[in-house]
Amino acid sequence: MQKLNLCIIIILVVLTSCSQSGKRHKIGVSQCSEDIWREKQNAELRMGAYLQGDVELRFAAAYDSDERQVQQIDSLVATGIDLLIVAPNQVATISPAIDRAFDKGIPVIVFERKTNSQKFTAFISADNYEMGRVMGEYIASQLHGKGRVVEIMGLEGSSPAIERHNGFADALKNFPNIEVVATLQGDWTEESAVKAVKDYQGDLNNIDFVFGQNDRMAMGARIALGTSTIKYCGIDGLPGEDGGIRLVRDSILDATYIYPTHGDQIVDLAISILEGNPYEKETMMMSALVTRDNANVLLMESQEIMRQAAQLDELHEKADSYLHELDTQRIISWMAVGVIVLLLITLVLLYLYHLRKITLQRERVVNTLWNMKVEDIPTHPEESEPKKESESMVVTENTKSSDTLDEDEPAAVSLFITRFKEVVEARLEDSDVSVEDLAADMNLSRVQLYRKVKAISGSSPVELLRTARLNRAYQLLLTTDKSVSEVAYAVGFTAPSYFTKCFKEEYGMVPGDVRK
Ligand code: FRU
Repeated sequence: MQKLNLCIIIILVVLTSCSQSGKRHKIGVSQCSEDIWREKQNAELRMGAYLQGDVELRFAAAYDSDERQVQQIDSLVATGIDLLIVAPNQVATISPAIDRAFDKGIPVIVFERKTNSQKFTAFISADNYEMGRVMGEYIASQLHGKGRVVEIMGLEGSSPAIERHNGFADALKNFPNIEVVATLQGDWTEESAVKAVKDYQGDLNNIDFVFGQNDRMAMGARIALGTSTIKYCGIDGLPGEDGGIRLVRDSILDATYIYPTHGDQIVDLAISILEGNPYEKETMMMSALVTRDNANVLLMESQEIMRQAAQLDELHEKADSYLHELDTQRIISWMAVGVIVLLLITLVLLYLYHLRKITLQRERVVNTLWNMKVEDIPTHPEESEPKKESESMVVTENTKSSDTLDEDEPAAVSLFITRFKEVVEARLEDSDVSVEDLAADMNLSRVQLYRKVKAISGSSPVELLRTARLNRAYQLLLTTDKSVSEVAYAVGFTAPSYFTKCFKEEYGMVPGDVRK
């Protein structure tokens, strides 16, 4: 029974776990860094995945470490992702890991930062060269073609740093009176810009403009150089309280350039690749310069977009928790059905066990009675004293004539068996005796006799008759010199061979063995 219960539990667990089927697409996202720009992008990626439905994103952030990003890409691939989205920390160092993924047949979307390998499926970014160039022209126009400028570069070896620098330098070539006093090395963080400025040994006096290759580094330079007359511009133009657009509106920065995050667009591209739909191998995202002229409008717009995104997020969370609840309820329902089934099975088994026990007990009692001498059978189990002759007679008479024998009443059973045994033993030698004859001797119809004998002993009258014949035969074999055939005839068998067969079935040996 325990084994059966265990099987049912296993089936239930399998059924309930089946209800949480796997996602259609598993997409790995390897971010080179972790900052507000990437936070925004990750939120959009999640939203894109949610809108696509049935897409699982697995995120990893390398915190500007090449080594960590290589490991993370290998691990993501090992978890069995269907597609990799990657922003490589540096151009050269991450390429081998991306190549490995690509060689395993995993489609790769390189976004925002480039690799030096051609092993990718699609590339999506804004035009970093163009951003640098526009920033150069903007600064030159603000300075009317004459002034002193400092550039703070992003992480060495990362493609946006190289391209923004190239664009910036190319733009300034047209303005010979703009002097780039210093090109300092940062790593995209605010602290790196603070440090680069402080560590600089040259002359940073009378600077007019600082171009930080992102807003955070522009702000770092501002911390280090002070607010005096220097103007600062950066890139990223994030919305929100700490974002570049607000900083421009409040004249903390002079300008910024929106570096689009567009995570949802990246997920759409991923799904097109995975589902075999047409897609562009290279996508350039639109972006725009933010100055005091448009900062207020852009801020308002971006706040509205953020408000809507927050609402969508809330809806998403609600839908998620609703789905989660549904899932839990489904599991609980399955469990409840399982428990009810288990209970029913247990009850049925207990009932069958109980019935079997009663039958066995009864058969044991009847067998014991059947094998005892008639005189030894008590008419009431609790009485050791034999009943008075008259009482005994009354009961016997009742049993004889009654059709309503209580089969659960031990005394009634005992009396019935005693009477039946007397009748059977009296007819034992008669090979022609029929069940009708035995029934008539018991003052019962054949059907009544059959029903009662079967009910209390589990055997039919014929079977009991045969057992009695074989018992008597066993005694005769032990106590007389009669041959096997003589014994067979003496106990009502007409064929000695059939007698031997029955005897063997009953005692597990042939009659001749009794005397050995
Ligand atoms: C975010 C960021 C941005 C920058 C870009 C360059 O991680 O540092 O601030 O514009 O990466 O890849």
